[in-house]
Amino acid sequence: MSNLFAVIGHPVAHSLSPRIHAAFGKQQEIDLEYRAIDAGLDGLEEALSRFAAEGGRGANITLPFKPAAAALCRELTPRAQRAGAANTLTRIDGAWRGDNTDGTGLVRDLTGRHGLDLRARRTLMLGAGGGGRGVAPALLDAGIGELIVVNRTPGRADALADALGDPKRVHSRYYEDLGSLGEFDLVVNATSAARDGAFLSLPRSLVGRRTATVDLSYGDAAIGFLAWARAAGAHNVIDGLGMLVEQAAEGFQIWHGVRPETDSIYAELRDHDRTLVTAD
Ligand code: ATR
Repeated sequence: MSNLFAVIGHPVAHSLSPRIHAAFGKQQEIDLEYRAIDAGLDGLEEALSRFAAEGGRGANITLPFKPAAAALCRELTPRAQRAGAANTLTRIDGAWRGDNTDGTGLVRDLTGRHGLDLRARRTLMLGAGGGGRGVAPALLDAGIGELIVVNRTPGRADALADALGDPKRVHSRYYEDLGSLGEFDLVVNATSAARDGAFLSLPRSLVGRRTATVDLSYGDAAIGFLAWARAAGAHNVIDGLGMLVEQAAEGFQIWHGVRPETDSIYAELRDHDRTLVTAD
């Protein structure tokens, strides 16, 4: 049987996933091929069929296809269903099974690598797209306190808040309200604003001395938000590199049945990403 895997997205050339999975494979002595496939703007379905025909056993799905990938799966795990988005697809009996490892990846990074206790943290999530939908359920499961979702298009924040099915803890608010919401213990940037070259204008009053801030992106796309967080005096300023490595480890376990060690590849990638120092 082939041992063919891939990450599918658009754009995908700069994805670190091939490097991460190659490192895991080497570490676990598993012979695998892992490709990066650019599906164009709306070519996910075709790219997935072609990949399956070539013997592809599993695919990571990245921007902007995570919600669309969920819709193409015959079966979804409960967490993918709850997120309405899939980032890890496995070929089973001629169809795709979709899972979402982003939320678990984020929680593992925040609690394991950064030593944060998430319980009862009053949390603000900026963005209600695929990224936000992917991580919100896991944050709730990890025991955060109130979750306020703010989105540029307010209807999507409302829809996400409804879908999370936890009306006591989850509320949606408008960007214009941000100045009056007080301080948060955790602020998550799940918007793609910086990737589109836009600047997110946020009041410093969201951040206090104990606040942890995390951007789901890494590299250049995370610089603006994390610079704001540092200037506002946040206690933890964390980018999405650790989440990327942890979601990959979770996917690797699904596909290969073993959990790789993540610290060495994280350190290696961090070494090449001097623009962002994860300050704790
Ligand atoms: P992702 O998978 O990264 O979440 P997405 O599903 O396209 O990508 O969602 C992008 C998120 O970033 C959305 O919440 C989007 O807000 P809208 O729902 O209003 O589109 C948010 N976003 C993108 N550009 C933004 C900007 N300039 N300011 C604020 N939010 C922005």
